[in-house]
Amino acid sequence: MDIENTEHLLDYLEKQQGIPGEDVTGIQVLAGGVSNRTVLVQRKEGPDWVLKQALEKLRVADDWFSDPERIHREAEGMRVLKPLTEEGAIVQLVFEDLRHHIIAMEAVPEPHVNWKLDLLKGRIQSSLVIQFGSCLARIHRNFDAKKYPADGSLRDQQFFESLRVEPYYLRSAEQVPEVKGFIEELVETTRARVITVVHGDYSPKNILVYNEQIVLLDHEVIHIGDPAFDVGFSLTHFLSKANHLPEHRSLFNSAALLYWATYESSVEGASWASTLEPFVVSHTLACMLARVEGRSPLEYLASEAKQRQKQWCVQSMKRPPLTVNALIKSYIEYLNECL
Ligand SMILES: Nc1ncnc2c1ncn2[C@@H]1O[C@H](COP(=O)(O)OP(=O)(O)O)[C@@H](O)[C@H]1O
Ligand SMILES: [Mg+2]
Repeated sequence: MDIENTEHLLDYLEKQQGIPGEDVTGIQVLAGGVSNRTVLVQRKEGPDWVLKQALEKLRVADDWFSDPERIHREAEGMRVLKPLTEEGAIVQLVFEDLRHHIIAMEAVPEPHVNWKLDLLKGRIQSSLVIQFGSCLARIHRNFDAKKYPADGSLRDQQFFESLRVEPYYLRSAEQVPEVKGFIEELVETTRARVITVVHGDYSPKNILVYNEQIVLLDHEVIHIGDPAFDVGFSLTHFLSKANHLPEHRSLFNSAALLYWATYESSVEGASWASTLEPFVVSHTLACMLARVEGRSPLEYLASEAKQRQKQWCVQSMKRPPLTVNALIKSYIEYLNECL
C-alpha cells in the first residue's frame, strides 16, 4: 500500500475509510518531505485532507532508516500540542490507521506559503518571527510532564535518538573528532534533561503561513526531554541563512535576536527557564555543526559556506559564548570578517 499511488489510495479511502470515490475531487503528491509520503486529498464534502505515510528509508543521500511507527508519534503530537498552542497553530487530526501507518489531518487551506521558502528569498516578517518564538515557548511552558500518562508514548525518546542524536550529533562527532568531547558531553546532559515536551523538528520548513499566522507541522520527533534542543535547532536556521545570504545577513541577525528575546521572555517564570541558556548555546553550536557535518546537511549551503560554519563551530565549542546574544553576535561578526 503506497498512498502516492492514486489507484491504491482511492481504493484505500473507499474500503478502509468509507470515503466514496466521487467525494474525492483531486489527489496531489506533496513534495518537500524526506521521511514520509505526503498526499493532498481534495474533497467535495468537507475540508481537504493531507495523508501521511511513514517511510522506512528516508529520502536523503545517506542510508538512514527509521521505524514507520513514528507516524503514530506524530498523531500523539497533534493531540498533545493542540491544547497548548494558539487556535489554528496545529491542524486537526482526522484519523490514525495503526495497521498501515497512515494518518490523515485537515489540510491548511490555500493560499499558504512554506515559511522556509519565504525566508530564503529574504522575506523576513518580524511578526512571524515573534509568533515562531512564542509558539515554542507556549509548547514548552504549557505542557505539564507530571500530568502526562506514565505510559504515554512521548516518554519514549527512541525517535529523538534515531533521528537527532545519532544522525546529527554522534555523526558530527565522528566526522569532526576535535569536538567529540563537547558533543558527547552534550548528548549525555541532554538525555538526562527530561523536562517538558520537545518538538524535535522545530524548523521554518515545517511552518506554513496562512492568513498571517503560523501553522506547525511534522511532529514525529516529539518527546519529553530538553527544551533547549528545540531552541538551538531552530536558531540554527536563522544563523545558517545569515551565512548563506550575505545580502540579508543583518535581517537574519535581527530575526535571531528577536526570536530568542521572544522565547526567553515568554518562558520566564517556568521552573527550568532560568538555567536554560547555556544549554541553548550548546545545542545551537551542535546543531549548526550538524547541519554541515551530519547526515542531514542543509541543502542550500554551498561548500564554502559549510566550511565557514564548521570552522566557527569548532572554534566556538572550545570556548562557548556565555549567552545566546553573545553567540549570535560572534557568528555574525565572524561571517562579516570572512566576506
Ligand atoms: N496539513 C497540511 N496542509 C497543507 N500542507 C501540508 C500539510 N501537511 C503537510 N503539508 C505539506 O507537505 C510537506 C511535507 O509534510 P511534513 O509533515 O513536513 O512531512 P515530512 O515529515 O516528510 O517532512 C509540508 O512541507 C507541506 O508543504
Ligand atoms: Mg517536514
